[in-house]
Amino acid sequence: MKKRKFPGSFYNPITAFGTTVIFLNIFLIIFLLLFDYLSGSPKAYMGIVTFIVLPFFLFCGIAIALFGIWREHNRIKSGKSREKIFPVIDLNDKKYRSALILLSIGLIVLIIFSAFGTFKAYEYTDSDEFCGEICHKVMNPEYTTYQYSPHARVGCVQCHIGSGTEWYVRAKLSGIYQIYSVLFNKYSKPIPTPVHNLRPAQGTCEQCHWPKYFYRESEITNTYFLSDKNNTKWNLTLLMKIGGGNEETGVIQGIHWHMNLSNKVTYMMTDDSRQEIPWIKSEHSDGTVTIYKTTDFPVTDDMVKNGLKRRMDCIDCHNRPAHIYHPPSSSINRELAINKINPKLPFVKSLAVKILDTPYSSKEIALDSIKIAINNFYNLNYPEIAASMKDEISNSIIGIQTIFEKNYFPSMNVSWKGFPNNIGHLYAKGCFRCHDGKHQTEDGKVLSRDCNTCHTILAQELKKGELRISLGGVDYIHPVNIGDAWKNENCSNCHSN
Ligand code: HEC
Ligand code: HEC
Ligand code: HEC
Ligand code: HEC
Ligand code: HEC
Ligand code: HEC
Repeated sequence: MKKRKFPGSFYNPITAFGTTVIFLNIFLIIFLLLFDYLSGSPKAYMGIVTFIVLPFFLFCGIAIALFGIWREHNRIKSGKSREKIFPVIDLNDKKYRSALILLSIGLIVLIIFSAFGTFKAYEYTDSDEFCGEICHKVMNPEYTTYQYSPHARVGCVQCHIGSGTEWYVRAKLSGIYQIYSVLFNKYSKPIPTPVHNLRPAQGTCEQCHWPKYFYRESEITNTYFLSDKNNTKWNLTLLMKIGGGNEETGVIQGIHWHMNLSNKVTYMMTDDSRQEIPWIKSEHSDGTVTIYKTTDFPVTDDMVKNGLKRRMDCIDCHNRPAHIYHPPSSSINRELAINKINPKLPFVKSLAVKILDTPYSSKEIALDSIKIAINNFYNLNYPEIAASMKDEISNSIIGIQTIFEKNYFPSMNVSWKGFPNNIGHLYAKGCFRCHDGKHQTEDGKVLSRDCNTCHTILAQELKKGELRISLGGVDYIHPVNIGDAWKNENCSNCHSN
């Protein structure tokens, strides 16, 4: 007998079959991994195929091969050894030749089909259908808000994965964990934020937005409605000092000052959601370092040494570029401003805000309750209006229901309350996490909270016909009299609930 490389028990048809399965799967895994990596737009959940489905078959192959070895081993022990494991193929015989040709064709077809099949599976993991069926419930809040965001045409992967091997692998691993947690109902509701394995903004945001080239200021006009009977309307126009710039152009200013490559802002947080920031270090391009500490409580060197720190990047302000859960007040203001909800309906602003922020156990219950609550309110308190403004009332019900569907997700416990937007300072601390007027250097320099630092208040019209306007900025007047509270307290103290 010929000298064999492996023990005799390795040579049997079952093990040969198992080995073929093993190699076929290894080939497919390598093929798909290479393809996914080189394709430039890696698919987050392709991992299901490459790391779960194919390896499963791979292990089946191994099991079959081992079973073959074990069986053969027993046969050999019981004396039933095989002289020839494989059939003798005599290529001079026409019958054998045809059989061999047929077999080879079959094998090639099999390889092509399994490559094609796995490729289809691979495409499927990237489809909406897949998302719809496998993670729809879980990702519904993010997916819905994304569709109404300025990034609706930017793929999830472009922010959540980006390119590069390290993040590619990390995303694959977390993708597998996500699937596991969905299948076994282990995920938390809501999905926690911030996302810790999001890659640094240089690899995502900065691929499309180049901080060096933000110069302009941009004007925002907001229309507000108070919670009184008349839903009193007022306007505010802000000129946002977006700024930016680079050394070559000379101007480095405005809000994107933080992001200028030569400036480095590092902060220490005391909570997971990065909302409490007692210590900030600002390093300028000329080498000067400024350290600001909160005056709310003493910040010791030990706290700073052991504290959790982070270098500020785009996501520290733009934490919700694609998934914005709007507070009810701002969504209702917008609907009122465009007359989708009619501001002539008495108390409609305060009523709508209250109804939206009531906790509901499911979307269906919420939509029904909104309808009942609005109808009841006008039927009971304003029967004449309920009769004469029937259409306006039913339109406002639809308006409020639409706001609910886009911003509240009871099944995942998601709403604006758990997901603060760090741009601004009204409904969440946002910029005032640092610019609250309470962060100071040792020698008393305060991190500015002046109302004209980040924007110029170009105009404010509290009462019709009483427009105050100035290019240099007008003094802000809070719409309802709260004394000096708005000058000393964070706006979000009152506005975030
Ligand atoms: C413009 C970039 C961008 C796009 C596009 C994008 N996301 Fe996000 N996503 C983010 C950022 C930034 C965060 C929050 C980061 C943080 O606060 O740490 C986030 C957070 C999340 C979270 C965690 C929960 C939360 O709300 O904070 C999930 C889940 C998520 N995104 C899913 C998706 C899905 C699904 C898509 C595509 C339908 C998508 N994202 C598209 C940038 C993006
Ligand atoms: C694949 C390209 C791409 C990536 C990646 C990307 N964006 Fe955008 N972004 C866009 C496009 C396109 C728009 C819409 C521009 C427009 O309408 O003028 C936009 C708009 C914006 C706006 C303006 C929104 C508004 O209300 O007008 C902001 C802010 C923004 N992106 C921030 C980010 C941040 C932060 C990230 C990283 C988390 C990011 N973008 C990642 C392409 C991208
Ligand atoms: C200090 C907080 C902060 C940081 C950090 C920051 N931004 Fe902004 N960004 C803002 C604010 C505030 C605005 C104006 C928002 C508005 O008007 O709604 C803005 C506006 C923008 C816009 C819209 C510009 C326009 O002309 O309308 C884009 C795009 C943008 N940022 C991208 C980025 C990118 C990319 C990064 C990271 C390199 C970044 N931002 C870092 C606060 C920040
Ligand atoms: C993590 C803390 C932190 C947060 C959050 C933060 N800033 Fe700042 N900001 C700073 C520091 C530090 C400086 C620079 C102070 C210095 O060194 O002089 C600064 C400076 C500025 C400046 C002045 C730049 C100049 O021209 O000199 C503007 C404008 C500004 N921030 C706007 C914003 C806006 C708008 C937001 C919210 C979207 C925001 N900041 C959020 C820490 C922060
Ligand atoms: C550190 C920067 C900064 C400072 C200081 C600042 N603001 Fe703002 N403010 C912003 C940003 C950023 C926005 C968000 C613009 C947007 O909605 O896109 C904003 C928005 C607002 C809005 C509109 C809010 C809304 O969503 O309807 C008002 C009102 C306002 N600021 C008033 C003030 C007043 C009053 C002061 C002085 C006490 C002040 N701001 C100081 C950065 C700042
Ligand atoms: C002491 C509590 C308190 C503080 C602090 C406060 N506000 Fe208000 N704010 C109110 C009340 C009460 C209203 C009236 C709400 C209504 O009529 O719906 C209001 C209304 C507003 C509105 C109109 C809101 C809407 O939804 O139409 C804006 C804008 C506003 N405040 C801005 C600010 C800003 C900016 C700050 C911080 C610089 C601030 N407020 C601080 C209590 C406060």
